[in-house]
Amino acid sequence: MLKRKSSLKIINKVSTFKNLIKKLHNKKNRKPIILIPTMGALHQGHLSLIEKGKKIGGYTIASIFINPIQFNDKNDLKNYPITLQDDIDKLNGLKVDYLFIPKIEDIFGKNFQTTVTVNDLQKNLCGMHRPGHFNGVTTIVIKLFNIVKPDIAIFGKKDLQQLIIIKRMVKDLNLDIKIIGGKTIRERSGLALSSRNKLLTKTNYHKASKIYLGLKMTKNQFLSGKNKSINLKNNLIKFFKSEGLSNIEYVQIVNQEKLEENAIVKKGDVIAVALKLGKIRLIDNLKL
Ligand code: PAF
Repeated sequence: MLKRKSSLKIINKVSTFKNLIKKLHNKKNRKPIILIPTMGALHQGHLSLIEKGKKIGGYTIASIFINPIQFNDKNDLKNYPITLQDDIDKLNGLKVDYLFIPKIEDIFGKNFQTTVTVNDLQKNLCGMHRPGHFNGVTTIVIKLFNIVKPDIAIFGKKDLQQLIIIKRMVKDLNLDIKIIGGKTIRERSGLALSSRNKLLTKTNYHKASKIYLGLKMTKNQFLSGKNKSINLKNNLIKFFKSEGLSNIEYVQIVNQEKLEENAIVKKGDVIAVALKLGKIRLIDNLKL
């Protein structure tokens, strides 16, 4: 365990972390254990999840692990930003109690062959375009849950499908963990914060800010009485193309229970998009 000047304790080994958790669990009147799993390159979106955890009160634990099995694109994994010292400084600033940075070989040992699959919820949206991605996510998340044994875990709503899949997994597998969603944090331009934004060129960064503008346009159209899914989606695709956002992976309007599309859009449904700018894939969503 490496103790830095501040109160943040950084732990790399799974066995050390499990021993620590055992001690925390055995404490009299113990405080809740709150986990915020991340892949690092922390931005204000992550920090807002941590602040949410701090407000609950308890032991705040962040993890940083770039999980190779959730990347269906090798280049995406290779180019994923790493800003470890900056991340540590940010977590220090927020007085996070523990930071877990496991080594890959400690997480996926030789002959690792077990995965967790949440079936139907991955048929649409990102699941349709990133084969194996959500199996990778649920597998690492359940491993983190087993190591950290949190009472509460917090995930961002920007990755809405991920959040809904994790909630389903927790319910289906009878895990005693409360899953909380944290709101999407945006730049002043409306662009949803993402670790991948760092990789955008200046021109594409500007174009990316039109994504939220488009989502808001769809919401306004829905609020003014237009409720045919096909029309709302086509209008948005047209808008994106007119703004130079032509490499669209999907535009879907889904309900939040099953992530399924319906011909008629209802209040509470979500418009979700994924598109590429250069090689960078961005996602965003907005509740209607
Ligand atoms: O949202 C992320 O950063 C990742 O998918 C997560 C939940 C940390 C699992 O690797």
